[in-house]
Amino acid sequence: MDTVAGFEKLREEGSIRAWGVSNFDLHDLEELPKGAVPACNQILYNLTRRGPEANLFPWCERMGAAVMAYSPVEKGALLDHPDLRRVATERGATSAQVALAWSVRRGGVVAVPKAARLAHVEENAAALDLELTDEELEVLDRAFPAPGVVPLETLS
Ligand SMILES: NC(=O)c1ccc[n+]([C@@H]2O[C@H](COP(=O)([O-])OP(=O)(O)OC[C@H]3O[C@@H](n4cnc5c(N)ncnc54)[C@H](OP(=O)(O)O)[C@@H]3O)[C@@H](O)[C@H]2O)c1
Repeated sequence: MDTVAGFEKLREEGSIRAWGVSNFDLHDLEELPKGAVPACNQILYNLTRRGPEANLFPWCERMGAAVMAYSPVEKGALLDHPDLRRVATERGATSAQVALAWSVRRGGVVAVPKAARLAHVEENAAALDLELTDEELEVLDRAFPAPGVVPLETLS
């Protein structure tokens, strides 16, 4: 927690505007010094990794910390899921765009997909304009059910 105290000092002095954390589970966040709130917590979050919804999201919402979803397309591994493909095809979008639009469907969540190919970068950027309907969200909810409270998963 010396690091957080240092970040807070730098913030108070105006040397930095904000600081963030990564892979902090609820117990890590609760151990932060009183009043020290990260600007964001970068965590593994996508359709197949919905654990954070149960306890981390509420903490972040309550404290005003953003969630930054890393590996939002599970390194590409979830893009061939048939239900995801079906929602995407019916919408005239790609699986990646639907997965990304899903990951940022609620306020306070941003996603950081990695894309080396320009076509992927452009495709992913266009996902910002995609707002999923309640029906589409229900299909995805059934295909990728949230697990309830589980320890935060990580990926290297
Ligand atoms: N804080 C942490 O512990 C942590 C851990 C892991 C990752 N991260 C960060 O999270 C970010 C991304 O995570 P990630 O690389 O693990 O996973 P990811 O963004 O879920 O997946 C990246 C893979 O998906 C492909 N892809 C991207 N857009 C696509 C599209 N529209 N269609 C098809 N394939 C697409 C990419 O291909 P191409 O590259 O060929 O375009 C790449 O192979 C990175 O900034 C990384 O540093 C943080």
